[in-house]
Formats: sequence, C-alpha cells, structure tokens
Amino acid sequence: MPVPTGAERPHRDFLNIGDFSPAETFALLDLAERMRTGGYDARPLAGKALAMLFMKSSTRTRMSFEVGAIQLGGSAHFLSPRDVQIGRGEPIADTARVLSRYVQGIMIRTFAHQDVVELAEYATVPVINGLTDLSHPCQILADVLTVQQHQGDIRGKTVAWIGDGNNMANSWIEAAAHLGFALRVACPEGYDPDPEFLAAADARGADVRLLRDPREAVDGADVVTTDVWASMGQEEEQAKRAMAFALYQVDGELMAKARSHAIFLHCLPAHRGEEVTAEVIDGPQSVVWDEAENRLHIQKAIMAALMGHVPL
Ligand code: CP
Ligand code: NVA
Repeated sequence: MPVPTGAERPHRDFLNIGDFSPAETFALLDLAERMRTGGYDARPLAGKALAMLFMKSSTRTRMSFEVGAIQLGGSAHFLSPRDVQIGRGEPIADTARVLSRYVQGIMIRTFAHQDVVELAEYATVPVINGLTDLSHPCQILADVLTVQQHQGDIRGKTVAWIGDGNNMANSWIEAAAHLGFALRVACPEGYDPDPEFLAAADARGADVRLLRDPREAVDGADVVTTDVWASMGQEEEQAKRAMAFALYQVDGELMAKARSHAIFLHCLPAHRGEEVTAEVIDGPQSVVWDEAENRLHIQKAIMAALMGHVPL
C-alpha cells in the first residue's frame, strides 16, 4: 500500500508558538523530553518525507530536521534556492501545491514571514516555520526544553532577553504569554520587538516587560539569553548595530547580577566578543550545547505530532 500523500489527510501547521495550545505545547515538550532521555523508539514517520526549503543558511535547523526525520523512520530533503525553481521565480503557491504531492511535511526558512503564511495556505501538508525575519518558534521550544532540563517547569521562572528585539525575541514574548513565565526584554531604543507580539502578550496579561537597562532585566532572572546583533539579511548594518548594542553585551559582570543558579542560552551561531563574552558562553553557566542538542529532540516531537499524527 502506498503511503498516502498529505493531500489526503487533515493537517495543521506550526508557524508560530500559538499554533499549539498551551496544553499541547507542554505535551510536545514532554514528548521531546522522552526522546531526549531515550524513552521513545517509535517510527511514526516510516515511509514519509519532509521537504526543507532553505532561503537562508543553517547548521542546526537543517541537521536537526534531517537527522530527526531519519530517526523517526522517514526522510528529509534539502532544497536551496540555487537548486529549486522558487529561486527562479516559480510562485510559492505552485511550489506548495507540487511539494504537497510528494511529501508529508514542508519546513521552510526564509525572510518574509508572509511567504511562510502563503506556503501554508496552499500546501495540503503541514508547514513548519524554521525561522523567518519575524519569528523562530522551533528554537524557542528547544530553549524551553533546555530550561526545563536544567531547572524544571518553566512556569514561574524569569527569562531575561538582552539585545536585539528580533525574531528570537518575538517568539520568546509569544512563549511567555502562552506558557506562563516572566520575561524581561532589554533592547536599545529603535530595536524593540515587533509591536504586535508585545500587544498580544499584553492583551493576555503576560508578565512581559520591555526595558532599556540590561542590569534591570537580569535582576532576579533564572535564565539569561541573547542573540547576534545583526541577523541574517542585516549584514550591511553590522557596524551601526555594533554601536547601538555596545552596552548590551552579556559578560561575567551582567551574569553575576542574575540569580546564582541562572543558566545562559544562545541559539547560535554566536559572536564571542560581541553579544556575549567567551567567559560566559564557554563558562559554567552556559548550556548552549544542550540547547543545540535539544533542537533535535523538539524537531522530532514536532514532526511526530504534525506528520506522524502522534497524539499530544
Ligand atoms: N539556531 C539556529 O537556528 O541555528 P541555524 O541557523 O544553524 O539553523
Ligand atoms: N536572529 C538570528 C537567529 C539565527 C538562528 C537570525 O535571524 O539570523
């Protein structure tokens, strides 16, 4: 019997944190934790394939989806704009329709979030956001998994985000509102997170505060996290951004103002000497390698749920 194409099945997407309910998100984290600790050996992706469209570079996202799909019994297929017709102007809608006839899931990393929304609109299989200029939900779930690995339930914890109000910051804000933890965001003026993400968190009564002073943000924090000052696509702004963010480096002095058990997270790639010192990222509070590993476990949980129909 051939594996049915996604076109014949009901499906759902993962474009932002809120696409899973809070209860489903905690169940997804539990599933990923079982995968992390070796308590899961099912192969819900047997005979199934994931198409991975990468319009930007990637080490972790590509490898974690690719290896994760294989571990779950399926396959993953890397597509870059150099190789696929989308790079020569084939419409996203047509690409979505065609890929849906071959595969049971599509992961995409690209610039405009709207392109992912459009892909999802026309695809008849699940679409997973592997990072856009607006959000990076897979990474934030891996980060939450890492917090829970080291500190237990994230509810009631305080996370401090230092630096750029970028895609990572937006997804942290959404996660804080969704999962019920406190978030302190310290950004220089002009580099605030997306106002719609802030307003949505506010409307849900989330404990999210936008600050200017990184020291105020880390005060009482269980988790300190940051990201590059110039994201992919902003390379030409590097010099201007280095000036704007000069006071937002996570160094030993700033880490010392967080709680003594605080962990340091960074989605990677990192620029030592810019947003974080080597002392911190290579120091005892850093759990960035666990965090990178957790991309694999959470990606597998997401694929198992969306493509393998494993109940949450
Ligand atoms: N953190 C992250 O998404 O890494 P990659 O860019 O290597 O995928
Ligand atoms: N904010 C970074 C994250 C990289 C994983 C970027 O978008 O380049």
